[in-house]
Amino acid sequence: MPADSDESTGRGPMTPVLYRVEARHQELADTVTIRIAPVTERLTDPEPGQFEMLLAFGVGEIPISISGLGDGGGELEHTIRSVGAVTKALCTSAVGDLIGVRGPYGVGWDLDRATGHDLLIVAGGLGLAPLRPAMLEALANRHRFGRLVLLVGARDPGSLMFVEELERWRGRFDIDVAVTVDAAPPSWRGDVGVVTKLLSRAPVNFGNTTAVVCGPEVMMRFVAAGLADRGVPPGQIRLSMERNMRCAIGHCGHCQLGPEFVCKDGPVFPWDRMEKLMLVRER
Ligand SMILES: Cc1cc2nc3c(=O)[nH]c(=O)nc-3n(C[C@H](O)[C@H](O)[C@H](O)COP(=O)(O)OP(=O)(O)OC[C@H]3O[C@@H](n4cnc5c(N)ncnc54)[C@H](O)[C@@H]3O)c2cc1C
Ligand code: FES
Repeated sequence: MPADSDESTGRGPMTPVLYRVEARHQELADTVTIRIAPVTERLTDPEPGQFEMLLAFGVGEIPISISGLGDGGGELEHTIRSVGAVTKALCTSAVGDLIGVRGPYGVGWDLDRATGHDLLIVAGGLGLAPLRPAMLEALANRHRFGRLVLLVGARDPGSLMFVEELERWRGRFDIDVAVTVDAAPPSWRGDVGVVTKLLSRAPVNFGNTTAVVCGPEVMMRFVAAGLADRGVPPGQIRLSMERNMRCAIGHCGHCQLGPEFVCKDGPVFPWDRMEKLMLVRER
């Protein structure tokens, strides 16, 4: 058996297993959520914040975060924006199509460490996709956290994802949800401006808060700096970093930034480690 093989299956660490597209939902013009189910072998259930390598046969393989789990049958949900060849192939896959999957990989949001804290979830654009499992886990274990606050930023109202779910969460008495957009028509009744503007209104005790943040890198930098200024300990600000990947298991060095491998030491890093990594140029 090759080194690093899975003892129970004999499968090598780079060998994908077959999943079938069970459902697809068009979130935005360029963004689709697919739900995929194992054909024979079922991969280990991922932790919120982890990612899988998805293989579009004949096109290529890319890292995509988990945006949800199914009903306990090993289904996985991935929310994908079409930006190039592989994402386009995945976004246009039809129900019944086969996809190769390996994973789950990486360090996730690790909400266990936030037990007893206020939990602040800050999403920008597509960043809500990898944060959705964190939100669902927090809701399923609501008693473990103090205040639960979700701040969402998007380009405009038409770019908001998971709108029905956001509405449901907004209607709950035990969560605070605020949404802002960069630009809006006069009919928009919500906030306008960047998501960092919402930080000062977040009803949390900043000194006892864990924040999980995902979005464009510049947005994460401003949010993290804003939270640190308000007294959130840098080790309790956790951000997910996107870098090009090949192997996803710490072998190829493609995602290496200084001493860290984003695929295996991340993609979620605390701000005190990530601040330096953001300054390292990608290979
Ligand atoms: C850990 C991790 C999780 C991710 N999760 C998601 C997700 O949930 N949903 C999603 O839609 N995408 C996600 N991505 C990004 C996704 O992997 C890239 O969009 C994809 O690799 C692009 O491949 P492509 O062949 O479609 O396009 P390519 O032709 O490879 O690239 C198209 C354009 O996107 C840029 N690009 C490629 N890869 C990245 C990247 N990693 N970060 C930023 N820009 C990139 C390229 O520079 C180019 O401009 C994630 C990336 C990482 C590392
Ligand atoms: S992708 Fe190969 S080392 Fe991270």
